Amino acid sequence: VDQPGGGPPSPSGPADVLGFDPADPGFLDDPYARYHALRERGPIFRTPAGLFVLTGHELCGAMLRDPRFGHGPNPVNRVNPGQPVESFLRMDPPDHTRLRGLVSRAFTPRMVERLRPRVEAVTAGLIAALPEEGDLVSGFAYPLPVRVICEMLGVPPEDHERFQGWSETAARSLDPMLTEDLIAESGRSGREFRDYFRDLLELRRRRPGDDLLSALVRVEELTEGELLATCVLLLVAGHETTVNLIANGVLALVRHDLLRHAAERPRPVVEEVLRYDPPVQLTGRVALRDAELGGTPVPAGTAVVALIGAANRDPAAFPDPDRFDLDRFDPHRPDPGRFDPGRFDPGRFDPGRFDVAREPGRHLAFGLGIHFCLGATLARMEGEIALAALAAAAPRMELLDPAPPYRPNLVLRGLAKLPVRLNR
Ligand code: HEM
Repeated sequence: VDQPGGGPPSPSGPADVLGFDPADPGFLDDPYARYHALRERGPIFRTPAGLFVLTGHELCGAMLRDPRFGHGPNPVNRVNPGQPVESFLRMDPPDHTRLRGLVSRAFTPRMVERLRPRVEAVTAGLIAALPEEGDLVSGFAYPLPVRVICEMLGVPPEDHERFQGWSETAARSLDPMLTEDLIAESGRSGREFRDYFRDLLELRRRRPGDDLLSALVRVEELTEGELLATCVLLLVAGHETTVNLIANGVLALVRHDLLRHAAERPRPVVEEVLRYDPPVQLTGRVALRDAELGGTPVPAGTAVVALIGAANRDPAAFPDPDRFDLDRFDPHRPDPGRFDPGRFDPGRFDPGRFDVAREPGRHLAFGLGIHFCLGATLARMEGEIALAALAAAAPRMELLDPAPPYRPNLVLRGLAKLPVRLNR
C-alpha cells in the first residue's frame, strides 16, 4: 500500500496507520471479527496517520472502479531508467492498459479452458501421491498452481526450489508497513528473481516453445524492465493466491462438515470460499486528484485502503455474512434482486462497467475495475477442479490440527500448513 502522499514510511505503529494491528493475538485466526469492529466506525474512516480505510462493500467497489484513484507516478521507475520497473499491477493508464493488453489474450476463458485437461491430470497425480496423513499445503494446494502457471509461462517446474523463496518474499512485500529488513530483503530477492528470468528469457529467445515467455520475448515494444516485471508478476500472482483459495477452502469445508458438496457443485462452493475467506484481503490506491467517497472528501495524494476481507462480510451486501453458506451462490437458488451467478458469465463479465450498487451480492475477492484479476478464470477453474477432486477422493478427511497456523502476511492471507488425515 502506498504511503500517504508517496512519502517515506510513517514512524507510527500499525494501528495508527491502518486502524488495526495485524500483529494482535488472534487477528490471523479471525481477522473478520476485527473488521466488524472497524465497521462500527462507518463504511469509511480516517486513521490517525491520515489514510482512509473502506470497510463497506459498496464503497470498496466504487473506489476500485473510480479513475480518480490509482497508483500515481512512481519516481523510481521513471526518473532512474536503470532501476527495476513496477509491474502493471501498480501502474495507471496508459502504461497499465498497454502492458495488461499484451498478456490478457493468454487468460481469456477460451485459452484457460484449453488448460483444463492438464489441470485435471496434475490434480489427479498430486492426490494419488498424498500420504494418509500429511500437510495439504505443501503436498497439494501449493504444487498444483505452481505447476499450472509454470507450464503456461514456460518456466521449468523443477526450478521451483530456486524461486520459492523469492516468490514468498514478493508475496510478503505486498504488505503495508514493511520493516527496513524486509525492504532490503525484498530488493535483494527481486534482483535475483529478475536475473533468473533474464537468463530464462534468453533461452526462450534462442529456443522458443509454445508458452507465454516465448510469446513475450517476441513483443518488440516491451522494455527489458517491463518484460521482467511482467514475468515476476504473472508467476507470483499465478500461485501465491490460488494456493490460499484451495487451502482456505478445504479448511472452511472440513470445519463445517461440508466437504462432500465440493464434489457435486464446485462452482458455488468456490465462490463462497472466495467471499468467506478471500486470499487477497486488501488493496491500496492513492487519490490522483481531489475526490470524495460516500460524501467524505479525500484530498489528492491521500492513500486509501479497500478492505476486501471486510467488504465480503458486509451485512448490507451479504445477509448473515459470517455464515459459510454454500447456497449463497448456487444458481439453483437465486435470491431475487441480488447477484445471480446463474446468469453470470465470467467470460463476458466486464469489471470496468460492473455496478456494485445494482448487484450488491457480488464478492470482491478478485477486485474490481481496471485491475480486476487477470487470472480470475484460471483461478476459478483450478479451485473448482482441486476442491472437487479432493472431495471425491477423500470425503471423510479430518483436520489433524483444529487451528492450523497462518503465514504472517496481511494482504495474502493463507495457511502455513494444513495437517490432515485423508481417511480414504
Ligand atoms: C490482480 C486476486 C489468482 C494474475 C488481482 C487483484 C486481486 C486478485 C484482488 C486486484 C488487485 C488490485 O486491484 O490492486 C486473486 C485471487 C486469486 C488470483 C483471490 C486466486 C484465488 C490469479 C492468477 C493469476 C493472477 C491464477 C494468473 C497469472 C493477476 C494479475 C493481476 C491480478 C496479473 C494484476 C491485474 C492488473 O493490475 O490489471 N488478483 N488473484 N491472479 N491478478 Fe489475481
